[in-house]
Amino acid sequence: MKNIPLILMGCGGVGRQLLQHIITTRSLHSRKGLYLRVVGVCDSQCLVVTRDWLNNDLDDSLLLKACQVKQDGSSLSILGDFDKCQVYGHSESQGKIFEIASQLGKSTGLVCVDCSASSDTVVVLKEVVHMGCCVVLANKKPLTSTMEDFDKLFGYPHRIRHESTVGAGLPVIVSLNRIISSGDIIYRVVGSLSGTLGYVMSELEDGKPLSKVVRDAKTLGYTEPDPRDDLSGMDVARKALILARILGRQISLDDIKIESLYPKELGPDMMSVEDFLDHGISRVDGYMQERVMKAASNEKVLRYVCVIEGPRCEVGILEILKNSALGRLRGSDNILEINSRCYKEQPLVIQGAGAGNDTTAAGVLADIIDLHSLFP
Ligand SMILES: NC(=O)c1ccc[n+]([C@@H]2O[C@H](COP(=O)([O-])OP(=O)(O)OC[C@H]3O[C@@H](n4cnc5c(N)ncnc54)[C@H](OP(=O)(O)O)[C@@H]3O)[C@@H](O)[C@H]2O)c1
Ligand SMILES: *[C@@H]1O[C@H](CO)[C@@H](O)[C@H](O)[C@H]1NC(C)=O
Repeated sequence: MKNIPLILMGCGGVGRQLLQHIITTRSLHSRKGLYLRVVGVCDSQCLVVTRDWLNNDLDDSLLLKACQVKQDGSSLSILGDFDKCQVYGHSESQGKIFEIASQLGKSTGLVCVDCSASSDTVVVLKEVVHMGCCVVLANKKPLTSTMEDFDKLFGYPHRIRHESTVGAGLPVIVSLNRIISSGDIIYRVVGSLSGTLGYVMSELEDGKPLSKVVRDAKTLGYTEPDPRDDLSGMDVARKALILARILGRQISLDDIKIESLYPKELGPDMMSVEDFLDHGISRVDGYMQERVMKAASNEKVLRYVCVIEGPRCEVGILEILKNSALGRLRGSDNILEINSRCYKEQPLVIQGAGAGNDTTAAGVLADIIDLHSLFP
């Protein structure tokens, strides 16, 4: 049986779902001759590591316990009460990960899985890659900091996977990489890569005011606690940056033109979430309604998209032909249209659910399994 040792960073909605997927799909792995050996799990406060991490793992009952502890809003440090594992505080955890990575990197290999939402993990990930370990990410931040960090992470491209950073479980990254390695030339990539903004734009199309749509989206649990985190376009810009860098552009977040759905006067520094929802965002209703109507008079609809074409990389509202894949998009699905030499007249279209703990974690698990050939 081939062993794949793992350390999981981040035990939130996605991280917990990943642990659950690993446990429930064990028979599938063993049919492939694989065993996923979870040696450590960490959150923002501490790292839990199995004793004798060269040979043992955190067993499934302990992993389920970890999920329960985090679900209840407690710290993983509670697991220190069990004698099968050791708990390291925040200040020691980085050193401990390096110790494990340097040992396992030279021998059996190790996958560091980043399901956190932090920009701090990049420090660890850059190092472990150079120690011979693999990296799998759902977290976009390590890939969207400096170009130096990005190049360092991709110093060994066969050891890194990050399918879930764009479009959750949708096969966006793998499709782009296949097109690139075939020698095909990508002319243009256009996508709607935010479930929240997809929902907002298709509700606007039905004639509802922006303020109502945003309030509804929040009630339905489609938005971040502060909906401005979605409406700013920043998250879409990070996804666009990842795609642009895969396509070989040497750019940073600052180089991307980003259109926010609210003006600066309604920003988080200026008013609370409640004020924003109660009377802030409604100030944009009229302007947005006009844009929707203007687009409709040209047989077009508004979509919040990322566009990468030549030197151009931007995210914002665009008028899109109603009779196109993007124009027909409804609800919170994600979609990516790729035009290349081979997909010239009709784009290659990838569409489906682009968010959710379940599909995101499934994408992460598939990435881990995909690395199996690197393990002895
Ligand atoms: N949910 C989705 O649909 C989706 C889709 C695609 C991509 N993603 C990405 O997947 C990642 C995880 O999402 P999520 O919804 O699971 O987030 P989440 O619920 O906020 O969980 C984040 C986890 O990361 C931990 N963490 C924070 N800083 C850390 C650090 N420095 N080192 C290690 N762990 C740290 C947190 O610890 P505490 O528990 O101590 O706070 C928490 O357990 C995010 O980057 C997100 O953008 C999510
Ligand atoms: C993802 O997990 C978090 C934390 O458990 C939960 O609050 C959220 O509702 C989940 N999201 C979805 C779409 O299931």
